[in-house]
Amino acid sequence: MDMATAYKIIDHAYDVVVVGAGGAGLRATLGMGMAGLKTACVTKVFPTRSHTVAAQGGIGAALGNMGPDDWRWHMFDTVKGSDWLGDQDAIEYMCRSAIPAVVELEHFGVPFSRTEEGKIYQRPFGGHTTEYGDGPMAKRACAAADRTGHAILHTLYQQCLKHKAEFFVEYFALDLIMDEDGVCRGIMAWNLDDGTIHRFRAHMVVLATGGYGRAYFSCTSAHTCTGDGNAMVLRAGLPLQDMEFVQFHPTGIYSAGCLITEGARGEGGYLTNSAGERFMERYAPHAKDLASRDVVSRAMTIEVREGRGVGKENDHILLHLEHLDPSVLHERLPGISETAKVFAGVEVTKEPIPVLPTVHYNMGGIPTNYHAEVLRPTKGNLDAVCPGLMAIGEAACVSVHGANRLGTNSLIDLVVFGRAAAHRAAELIRPGTPHKPLSANAGEEALGRLDHIRNARGGSPTSRIRLKMQRTMQNNCAVFRSGEVLEEGCRLIDEVNSQLGDLSVSDRSMIWNSDLVEALELDNLVSQSLATLYSGAARTESRGAHAREDYPDRDDQNWMKHSLAWVDGKGRVTLDYRDVHMYTLSNEVSVFPPKKRVY
Ligand code: FUM
Repeated sequence: MDMATAYKIIDHAYDVVVVGAGGAGLRATLGMGMAGLKTACVTKVFPTRSHTVAAQGGIGAALGNMGPDDWRWHMFDTVKGSDWLGDQDAIEYMCRSAIPAVVELEHFGVPFSRTEEGKIYQRPFGGHTTEYGDGPMAKRACAAADRTGHAILHTLYQQCLKHKAEFFVEYFALDLIMDEDGVCRGIMAWNLDDGTIHRFRAHMVVLATGGYGRAYFSCTSAHTCTGDGNAMVLRAGLPLQDMEFVQFHPTGIYSAGCLITEGARGEGGYLTNSAGERFMERYAPHAKDLASRDVVSRAMTIEVREGRGVGKENDHILLHLEHLDPSVLHERLPGISETAKVFAGVEVTKEPIPVLPTVHYNMGGIPTNYHAEVLRPTKGNLDAVCPGLMAIGEAACVSVHGANRLGTNSLIDLVVFGRAAAHRAAELIRPGTPHKPLSANAGEEALGRLDHIRNARGGSPTSRIRLKMQRTMQNNCAVFRSGEVLEEGCRLIDEVNSQLGDLSVSDRSMIWNSDLVEALELDNLVSQSLATLYSGAARTESRGAHAREDYPDRDDQNWMKHSLAWVDGKGRVTLDYRDVHMYTLSNEVSVFPPKKRVY
């Protein structure tokens, strides 16, 4: 039986389809609606359950509400934080646009915390400085207590409803529909609630599907963070970029992995080892506990490795907040006070929190330009665009974060590029433009994959293969890496990929079949893990979050370039590279040339 007969398809036509309803997806959906484009937002979870809801400490913008600031200082910090792998045109765009984007959020109704004068409250965050790194730490993280993502997500959802956006909730996106010219023409999706299959045609598909933290055993990401859009892009024959750069957040709760915001250190918290020493003073004499995340995570890992970890196993570090005024904890950090109580049994006013670097963010993802258009690099033009396809948020690699993202630059990335996508789509699409006919079999490949996995009758359940993948990523692609460990990781992840051929799915229903959802997600995660490990094994230098013990130095001569990884249907990885953009968009700022990165 052909797939279209086996699975009845329900057709839809929109100007734009946004996949994902986190901060980026909602900001794009809202902007598209405001521009008069008929837009569908297709989302795996109810919008306000998207992972943005878990973002805590703040959104970065040089408002200067609580001390001097300048978007150029923000740009410098971001370039330096990226270890000079970020594209400087895109970073200029983000840091400059951050200011109107946050003011706009305020006007949309985000309930930011306030200063005495009623301005948006801003706190210090890691790697954010003044005067191009020469001045004191900047107060740049615009915060709604320590629930900033929650506040933004709810406000954006309300605004989308006000602008009559159409949501397809609990629909699992299966694949892109690409035509013979390589143009994206829509997506296929599965309605989890009633089991129906949907074909969405669109002049523009915007992937806002988030990161793939769940490739790891321990991460701060929600269970839904399986990088489904990234994997769809790989299956469409397009590459992912800079996948070796995986961020470890210094303060995940020991063993539970839940996030304790960097804002806790922004408010005066600090780390100690088993000797009670504030060891960050040795590693980053100026910024100390507020150095960049990769620097702090490496310092903590070294302390533990050298026997100065705390606890019975000497395997973690302590984060102290008990010296802070309880009213600060109550007003500015209520969320993490509760998290520490629930997940570590710690009363933060009295005792320190046990913490450990935990996987938090993927700098790599779908390569785009700063208009959010996805790149389809060709030999002659590595910056060529794939018509009909955009990517934003953690799914995308613009690249504004390069080799290491600064805290608060994720939330600002979401809204700045969600907004940029809408602006660009409004330039490219006339609302209501008729759709060209699709080929008769459009979407069949996606259904073939669904059907194959649904009927998988091997001997390995999803949970077993997933555990092996997660252990491999955790052990072989960690804070510190070496050629030997990464190559072993490549071999192990190849085995995981082969084991997918022995997958077993036991539930064959189509309605709320979480067995099948998890199997599809696993398939998505494995292709991204392959891209991550192979890109990492090839990069013989240390830069940002990619710290190679066998190549401890940054090598700008050979490696100041973005990795591109293609993964074919058999799991074979092909690598290539594209240049970092070392130019700016305006004369208001000059390129920041590479220099040694010290904090
Ligand atoms: O520490 C935090 O609040 C996380 C912020 C971020 O990842 O940007």
